Amino acid sequence: PGSREEYVIGFSQCVGSDQWRKTMLDEVKRELSFESGITLYYEDADNDSRRQIEQVKSLLARKIDLLIISPNEANPLTPVVEEVFKKGIPVVVIDRKTNSNLYTAYVGADNYEIGKMAGEYLANRLNRTGKIWEVMGLPGSSPAIERQRGFYDAIKKFPNVKITEQVYGNWLLDKAEKEVLNIKSKDVDAIFAHNDQMALGAYNALKSNKLEKSVKIIGVDALPNGGQKFVGDGIISASMLYPTGGKEAIRTSLAILKKESFEKENILKSVVIDATNVQLMKMQIEKMDNQQEDIERQQNMLSEQNKIYKDQQFILNVLIIS
Ligand code: FRU
Repeated sequence: PGSREEYVIGFSQCVGSDQWRKTMLDEVKRELSFESGITLYYEDADNDSRRQIEQVKSLLARKIDLLIISPNEANPLTPVVEEVFKKGIPVVVIDRKTNSNLYTAYVGADNYEIGKMAGEYLANRLNRTGKIWEVMGLPGSSPAIERQRGFYDAIKKFPNVKITEQVYGNWLLDKAEKEVLNIKSKDVDAIFAHNDQMALGAYNALKSNKLEKSVKIIGVDALPNGGQKFVGDGIISASMLYPTGGKEAIRTSLAILKKESFEKENILKSVVIDATNVQLMKMQIEKMDNQQEDIERQQNMLSEQNKIYKDQQFILNVLIIS
């Protein structure tokens, strides 16, 4: 008991099993560990929109004070998210969007810009001539729609660059590999995959046809052990950094709950990572991780000190009273 408020945050994740979302959850938990009095209910819909709708409803029933959600597909999830919002429960949308503006805040990179960046990068790497295959994310999920649109708008400015094949890899490695293998043509200069897992699937497919050496592949996400590693190993040419936003989502959520000021749109920065900067990026991330460890060590020391102090206070009180 104390003057501190206690809050319950519900987190509805469209899928939790891949590395990118695990990183997001790690960030969420780390940021929450700096705060006391917050309970987190976490639900993983495992790529199933119907299940995600049910999970949001059950979070509602468990009396959450705020909802963080990454909606699997925009259309099916829109009504339930609107319902939460209309009940006066703040909604922080992260990475994937609904089709509605009934939400409290959004956290994520600009997926249209990422698609555009990918298109401009690839067109220039191809010296403005060539045929590109596009391996897209799950149909109806907002990053797939926005990355496709941005990519198309960039490529249409280069008359000799053409998108000749488009397949849906649904964000998944195996599905992407299968779909690329199914393409009849062998005439391809580059592949844009909407994420690095699908870029790896595309690479595997090309390898089966001994095409992997002549085709430039690019992806999105650029996790240190994912896309950055693939770039370092020469499996793909580049990856567009896609920050998970876990930390920012918690910061924004806490500001909302504590009635502090916050931005409705929190757009995270992206950057192309290729052979020219992948080393530098790695070094910077290691440095940040070290600093983070230092901070955590200091915090542990502080809470130890605090505990000792409280014990002493208690002993003192006992002495005074007795
Ligand atoms: C992870 C993921 C990422 C992608 C994002 C799009 O589940 O597929 O690879 O960038 O979701 O929402």
